[in-house]
Amino acid sequence: MTDKAHSLDKIVSLCKRRGFIFQSSEIYGGFGAVYDYGPLGIELKNNISQLWWRDMTQLHENIVGLDSGILMHPKIWEASGHIEEFHDPLVDCKQCKARFRADELITDFESADWSAIQCPTCGTTGNLTEPRQFNLMFKTHMGPVESEGDIAYLRPETAQGIYVNYLLVQGAMRKKVPFGIAQIGKAFRNEIVARNFIFRTREFEQMEMQYFVKPGTDDDEMKAWKEERFNFYTVGLGINKDKLRFHQHGHGELAHYAKEAWDIEYEFPFGWSEVEGIHNRTDFDLKRHQEFSGKNMQYSDQISNEKYFPYIIETSAGLNRMLLIVLADAYWEDSENNRTVLKLHPKLAPVKAVVCPLVKKDGLPELARNVTDELKKHYKVIYDQQGSIGKRYYRQDEAGTPFGITVDHQSLEDNTVTLRNRDTQNQDRVPIDSLVEKINDEINNWS
Ligand code: GAP
Repeated sequence: MTDKAHSLDKIVSLCKRRGFIFQSSEIYGGFGAVYDYGPLGIELKNNISQLWWRDMTQLHENIVGLDSGILMHPKIWEASGHIEEFHDPLVDCKQCKARFRADELITDFESADWSAIQCPTCGTTGNLTEPRQFNLMFKTHMGPVESEGDIAYLRPETAQGIYVNYLLVQGAMRKKVPFGIAQIGKAFRNEIVARNFIFRTREFEQMEMQYFVKPGTDDDEMKAWKEERFNFYTVGLGINKDKLRFHQHGHGELAHYAKEAWDIEYEFPFGWSEVEGIHNRTDFDLKRHQEFSGKNMQYSDQISNEKYFPYIIETSAGLNRMLLIVLADAYWEDSENNRTVLKLHPKLAPVKAVVCPLVKKDGLPELARNVTDELKKHYKVIYDQQGSIGKRYYRQDEAGTPFGITVDHQSLEDNTVTLRNRDTQNQDRVPIDSLVEKINDEINNWS
């Protein structure tokens, strides 16, 4: 195993050990590429999504939120092109029954001679089938009787919920082009090969923002959103800039709806891969919805009296992938001190502080409880009195908790505690009365 693959394994095992992420249905042997988020995982996920939500809907006055259904009218997926176009080429090995995406085995998979290609799993040649197109949408049925007429799909992207509601939102909120609609929600794709932990899963969450602009201004808007989204990673999440880059989609890569597309990629332990797509979707979706629904989908400009289909600049990020880059970027083996640390920015850390009585007697637990009760009005904190103080701190270093507070015998005399910084392990003596102020200061000046 390479060092890089090894480091993904280490992250996976830390996530399980510390209650971030578990394999779904583990007691039944697991369930293909679905993951459950444990107590620390859900806190981290919420902190990331709230940061994105604030960035989009609070810092931009012309972007508003929406929460549309996962199940929608099946015609939406005809109009969007997902029924016709949302395929991956699938090959099976007749010998070992392994499944692959043909385009991941061979770039030029359409003209390849599959009888001469070796199966990467069992090593036999001549057993791979010809590629066949496989639609990635999950199908289900509405109502008690299963019939062709009752088919519904689990949405493969949240975007369509925004497009079909855009005129309702625009009218209700009196928005003028350019304006945006943001949404966070689950999406589902029946991926042929789901791998690399939470990177590619069958159930995941997207954070998408659709920005409706006047045709002709789309190229400039695209440029502006590219820059803004890149900054969200470096400034907003504090991700190492050297591990981020843009990748522009070439002609063969462009989705059926896109005129121009850029991925923000991160250098994961398994290589450079996409975490967010920024797409110029033109007026493709709105025109198609007008065609398939028979309803007018044009925007009406009250000032110029023009009617037109806005172009759409889409920023589409995977929340789970964003969480994976936050974890991968924060993972640090501190060999000098023989400890593993998640160097999460305090604003993202699931727990901000652990409060520990030095010993379980002499009135220290009572005082530590009082400190916890005060702090929990401000942050997510935990109380821990199990094990040596060193072990308690190391457990929290792995969980990414930035502050450790110890109540000791001196605390009983002068009402001070020690405040430990996770990364430097420096400890300051701080009056209990000014703990909140001191922690706020540290969070605001964190580097
Ligand atoms: N609405 C456009 C759209 O869905 P996409 O590039 O197919 O575009 C956008 O997906 C983002 O959704 C990706 O950059 C990725 O972060 C996330 N994503 C897509 N498929 C995923 C999967 N199977 N597992 C986890 N995240 C996924």
